[in-house]
Amino acid sequence: MTITVTPTDQACGAEVIGVDLSASLSETDVTDIRAAWLEHHVLSFPDQKLSDDDLERFTLNFGPFGHDPFIAPIPGRDHIIAVERAADETAPIFAEAWHTDWSFQETPPSGTCLYGITIPDTGGDTLFANQHKALEDMSPELRAKLEGKIAIHSAKRAYAKDGAYGTGDKGRTMKILPSDEANESFNHPIIRTHPETGQKAIFGSIGYIMGFEGMSEDESLALLAELCQWQTQHAFQYRHKWQKDMLVMWDNRSLLHMATGGYKGQARKLHRTTIGAR
Ligand code: SIN
Repeated sequence: MTITVTPTDQACGAEVIGVDLSASLSETDVTDIRAAWLEHHVLSFPDQKLSDDDLERFTLNFGPFGHDPFIAPIPGRDHIIAVERAADETAPIFAEAWHTDWSFQETPPSGTCLYGITIPDTGGDTLFANQHKALEDMSPELRAKLEGKIAIHSAKRAYAKDGAYGTGDKGRTMKILPSDEANESFNHPIIRTHPETGQKAIFGSIGYIMGFEGMSEDESLALLAELCQWQTQHAFQYRHKWQKDMLVMWDNRSLLHMATGGYKGQARKLHRTTIGAR
């Protein structure tokens, strides 16, 4: 089977057809999909009828499973979480802030796979921001401020007991497990080289970055705010519109992403795996 890859007209992303992900993939298909993923950073595969077994098998073509803390897996599975929201839910939208998945880990997941099960008629798009492009187009002044800086990443603002998804977060369908472990931190250079393509990108954003080594909290926050305004601008974005039975895989080493709302009164449910580093 030969896959067809059609790039979007936005800053990243492509649609892939001509492959059935409910069956085992040939080596050629895996090689072609990996190449398209590295080139376009987000791939969408419409009209795929996938079971949880299929989703797991697809994920494992690209690396081991990542380690997914702070969210309980769905019953009977160790590596699938449900990103879901009930029609009458009033808790804030999950992940409606720019971030890179689990960037506070020593070895964050290379990629994430998300499969659409219940998709609202309107809203619920996922936004992506191309961090290679954001770095390439950056002013020399901002780049000089970032060059050589080490960012301190932590999950505490989100998943600590007093965090946004902590013990005060009520009425949420998703099974979030706040923990003291979220107070730990791990450092990564703010400008990193993609291990597979050798291209440089900005890694992370104010979502999980607490500050920079050797800088005061105020200085760090000012730089993070300036960076966030730059790295998330429309020119670097791709707005993904979901369909039921659509699988999306993205490269966390190249992108930021965030969920959006706009589907009040409607349910939304997707199953998610992460691809660990090889
Ligand atoms: C996520 O950040 O994994 C969720 C994205 C979404 O719900 O659109």
